Amino acid sequence: MRVVILGSGRGSNAEAILLAQRAGRLGRAQVGRIFSDQADAGILALGARFGVPADYIDPAPFKTKLEGPGEERFIAAVAACAPDLVVLAGFMRVLKAGFLNAFAGKIINLHPSLLPAFPGLDAIGQALSAGVKETGCTVHYVTPEVDAGRIIDQARVSVEPGETFESLTAKVHAAEHRLLPTVIARLSAGG
Ligand code: GAR
Repeated sequence: MRVVILGSGRGSNAEAILLAQRAGRLGRAQVGRIFSDQADAGILALGARFGVPADYIDPAPFKTKLEGPGEERFIAAVAACAPDLVVLAGFMRVLKAGFLNAFAGKIINLHPSLLPAFPGLDAIGQALSAGVKETGCTVHYVTPEVDAGRIIDQARVSVEPGETFESLTAKVHAAEHRLLPTVIARLSAGG
């Protein structure tokens, strides 16, 4: 199963996927390529470390969505990899019909809450402000409606009294690093 990872940030989830692959815990999945919409994203540095080509693609002209010429550049680059699975690991841009249709049913996203609770930005801050006793992370298929596609799996973390944004973020990230590689391995086995 050929996997392409898209990310915008530090890339800790992409790193977790690549470490799982190195340890033989990614099933039949093989990460072939990493792309980012941010030229200085930490995720791009993983390429050299793990021997996977990692490239910036200019997402212009929009700031928060992928549409128009930037979308066409991403479609062309990702299609050239003929992926079976496109993993959004901290890709902070809304995908539109062009990209979604080009890879229909093959795009999964990681979100730092127990969807459908707290979609959108700052999901961890939203959960903390809401005073919930439990939050977590979700892997789901990507559809035009943001953070609303079919849920594949979730992991839960408790919110303790005195929890801070930093401590809760660390717990959610640790859960994400376990969940996402496990889901990819399972999908590669057809499950
Ligand atoms: C992760 O916490 C992921 O759930 C979140 O971005 C972070 C990326 O971290 N994604 C979203 O909020 C998507 N709406 P990373 O770059 O260290 O993997």
